[in-house]
Amino acid sequence: MTDRARLSLGDAQYEFPVLEGSEGERAIDIRDLRAKTGHITLDPGYGNTGSCESAITYIDGEQGILRYRGIPIEQFAAEPNFVEVAWLLIFGALPSGDEYTSFAADLTRHANLDEGMKHHFEGFPRAAPPMAILSAMINALSCFYPELFELEDPERFRGAAARLISKIRTIAAYAYRHSRGQPYIYPNPRLKYVPNFLHMLFSEPYDDCACDESVIRALNLVLILHADHEQNCSTSTVRMVGSSGANLFASCAAGVCALWGPLHGGANVEVLDMLERIHNGHLTPEAYVKLAKDKDTKVRLMGFGHRVYKNFDPRAKLLGEVAEELLARLGVDDPLLDIARRLEEIALSDPYFIERKLYPNVDFYSGVILRAIGIPTNMFTVIFAIGRLPGWIAHWREQRAGGSRIARPRQIYTGSTRADYVPMAERG
Ligand code: CMC
Repeated sequence: MTDRARLSLGDAQYEFPVLEGSEGERAIDIRDLRAKTGHITLDPGYGNTGSCESAITYIDGEQGILRYRGIPIEQFAAEPNFVEVAWLLIFGALPSGDEYTSFAADLTRHANLDEGMKHHFEGFPRAAPPMAILSAMINALSCFYPELFELEDPERFRGAAARLISKIRTIAAYAYRHSRGQPYIYPNPRLKYVPNFLHMLFSEPYDDCACDESVIRALNLVLILHADHEQNCSTSTVRMVGSSGANLFASCAAGVCALWGPLHGGANVEVLDMLERIHNGHLTPEAYVKLAKDKDTKVRLMGFGHRVYKNFDPRAKLLGEVAEELLARLGVDDPLLDIARRLEEIALSDPYFIERKLYPNVDFYSGVILRAIGIPTNMFTVIFAIGRLPGWIAHWREQRAGGSRIARPRQIYTGSTRADYVPMAERG
């Protein structure tokens, strides 16, 4: 097997090294391409471009494999524990008993927001999109913890990571309560990560919500399955912002903004809208799939397709099973689950989807689960963000530790060639 790639440009020949990852992925290392040849590569959407080397998450999109630090995600499903997975992703190995206990204690200690932060929520309109609030408030954490801008010290980094992971859920819950005009519910230090989040969302000052164990398990698993996905749009954003030297809070706030888009994390909202539209009688699943295949409509089968997976997204498989189990356990008969199953059945036997290798992705069933838990649709992408945060933090840390250069792509300029300034009075 060759370990050099050869490029011919006119009469000139160049050689570039070929790198191989631990799972056999190969890349042509073009770090000195421009210096040697005067050319750059052009790859809009970065479908063929590796931006970094990373040891966090492995995906084999052809075979539908997803592993966190080498561990297949299916192995987290038996006893789903989001906090443990967060540690694994960020620090590289499963936590020891002591590490886990101390990290969980940090999460409990840091759950409250500074009282000053609470006033910020009042300034947002009731109908404000919760992703906008989430991003703004995560960025606002920078104002309250300027001592956490420099994170070379491992203890300090750990403190910043714990604060973020803990507070994102409080911010999310307060955004939800604010949108409903309800009083904020303080975190309860006696509750674990997920039940505490549900408590802040659904308890009343005079009445604590009772959470079914199956709901806690399902939400833990939803968060775990969203926790990292290597160089996706939001994670690449976090790495890119971090590469400028921006602090962890600012970098993750940028990640929230990237996640918000309907082709990324926002797809879980779009899936629910699609299922509701079909259910409300405007369309049959068959008619919707027909529309999604028609290039003139710009309609897509939301929750289907993926840049990397050309096979079943393993997260969708697990979530489909969890949706089934949770709804049965809660005695919920949700017609939207039936519609989702029907859409999946139609699409998976349709040549359009087969030829393009379009399968259900993580967003296809997550909404049905969140809906059964009682989480409103406009909070779905926020839940995705809470899940993805450990991945963002892990990548921010890896990027910093690697001492990489500022991320700064180049371009092929296609605008006007040199032109002259014309004073206003002389313009026609
Ligand atoms: N419905 C109908 N056609 C589709 C779909 C879809 N959901 N997805 C892709 N296609 C078609 C697309 O029109 C194109 O067809 P053609 O080759 O004839 O032009 C072909 O499949 C390849 O699609 P692409 O847009 O070039 O693929 P991409 O890798 O750029 O985009 C994607 C990936 C996820 C943005 C896209 O599949 C999509 O828009 N899916 C729906 C939105 C969605 O579910 N997003 C969540 C992604 S998973 C979670 C996350 O990343 O946050």
